[in-house]
Amino acid sequence: MTQDRVVIFDTTLRDGEQSPGATMTHAEKLEIAGLLDEMGVDIIEAGFPIASDGDFNAVSEIAKNAENSVICGLARAQLGDIDRCWDAVKHARQPRIHTFIGTSPLHRAIPNLTMDEMAERIEQTVTHARNLCDNVQWSPMDATRTELDYLYRVVEIAIKCGATTINIPDTVGYTAPRESAELIRKLLENVPGADEVVFATHCHNDLGMATANSLAAVEAGARQIECTINGLGERAGNTALEEVVMALKVRNDIMPYQTGIDSTKIMNISRRVAAVSGFPVQFNKAIVGKNAFAHESGIHQDGMLKNAETFEIMRPADVGLSETNIVMGKHSGRAALRSKLEDLGFELGDNQLKDVFVRFKALADRKKEIYDDDLIALMRTTADPEDERLKIEKLAVRCGTEGPQVADLVMVIDGDRQMTTQTGDGPVDATFNAVKALFPHEARLQLYQVHAVTEGTDAQATVSVRMEENGLIVTGQSADTDTVVASAKAYVHALNRLIVRRGKSGTDRREISYKDVS
Ligand code: KIV
Ligand code: ZN
Repeated sequence: MTQDRVVIFDTTLRDGEQSPGATMTHAEKLEIAGLLDEMGVDIIEAGFPIASDGDFNAVSEIAKNAENSVICGLARAQLGDIDRCWDAVKHARQPRIHTFIGTSPLHRAIPNLTMDEMAERIEQTVTHARNLCDNVQWSPMDATRTELDYLYRVVEIAIKCGATTINIPDTVGYTAPRESAELIRKLLENVPGADEVVFATHCHNDLGMATANSLAAVEAGARQIECTINGLGERAGNTALEEVVMALKVRNDIMPYQTGIDSTKIMNISRRVAAVSGFPVQFNKAIVGKNAFAHESGIHQDGMLKNAETFEIMRPADVGLSETNIVMGKHSGRAALRSKLEDLGFELGDNQLKDVFVRFKALADRKKEIYDDDLIALMRTTADPEDERLKIEKLAVRCGTEGPQVADLVMVIDGDRQMTTQTGDGPVDATFNAVKALFPHEARLQLYQVHAVTEGTDAQATVSVRMEENGLIVTGQSADTDTVVASAKAYVHALNRLIVRRGKSGTDRREISYKDVS
């Protein structure tokens, strides 16, 4: 590897999927892995095989399908974890085992290991991983809060035992750019054998500094950046792939490092990850936000018309964004819809297209101009029919200044048609009460969010909800020109996901403790 090449390690399917509610289905994970492989991601961390049979199967299948990327699985510092990880990744042309242990005082206290006992555990587990696989990554979790001398000691052990990549995680998003750089520099200077391995940076975004910290680490000598699409990840998320890739591209004058990423694939994968994870991208998010290339003020618009470089440091096309325009209407046919959706990054099978086309026509009857964003919203709410145990058939709501508001709801539940009338404090409350009357549940609504997809009073509303039941968190989304209908469908979408999650066999990844190494 040349000194100016930075390896991109994507952990959307592992660290990203750990975001509460971001669980993806097996098919969705395979699809995202395919897109990551295609866009030039060097290493895909595909999951945590010991966590559940679902994770194991997803990692194995991603490993079998990968064409160019290295496929990596995560394992705690336990021999059984490492064996299970190897069993999943060994199918890949280029497999990698990533094993880790929390080395900071707070993390050492949980399995109650002394410094010496932990050092011994690292020696044993890294050696075991290296006996199985030539490509081993080791991480001292919470490295940025680990005593420096102890960090030197354990990194040296991991290198001696055969780790080929040493990842330095800022697990709680605590470090700052100068400190992040200094830590990498010190490790490179003080750890024997450091020049024989690749150092990686893995930053969480709790203080909003993840991308800056990752880039600072690269300037100090790290050559692998760990990141996720849209910055998905626990709490405030991780370093965003699109941000580091575009920062290195646009500011190559001061950060002369190359990645192998085809940046024109960024918008497409960002949209797909938003759709399948249920985590919409904030409007003003760098690179992939809806407003990232929008120019609102008169001065900006005037400047843009004269010379786009006045207010744009990259072109929309650099990230694969086509000019947003009115694209479709009620006379558009199935072939035009398929081709438009392909442009937007959605490859559909015939059955899926049939379903989307019916809903597209229904939308076109209500809305004259169908924009790209309308189609993206439509795709975001395409449910897998097998997972649709609850379905809304009909909803009528009476609302206005005189309460209480009333919802008449007909739902099909496992093929059985049922109806109810319920009241509530507002039309959405009445509707949710009606759903609850027909499908009683204990799930608590944690978040309810409405956005207009495009402009105008006939714009579709996209509604996102997040619900929690006994520690299981699910999200649901829907879009409709009627905000209350979109709300009802989003609520039911989340309930359908909850039913799937409740019924999943095996351990949920969140139930497995990262700290449990004994
Ligand atoms: O943030 C972290 O420390 C991690 C480790 C498992 C590498 O994700
Ligand atoms: Zn992490």
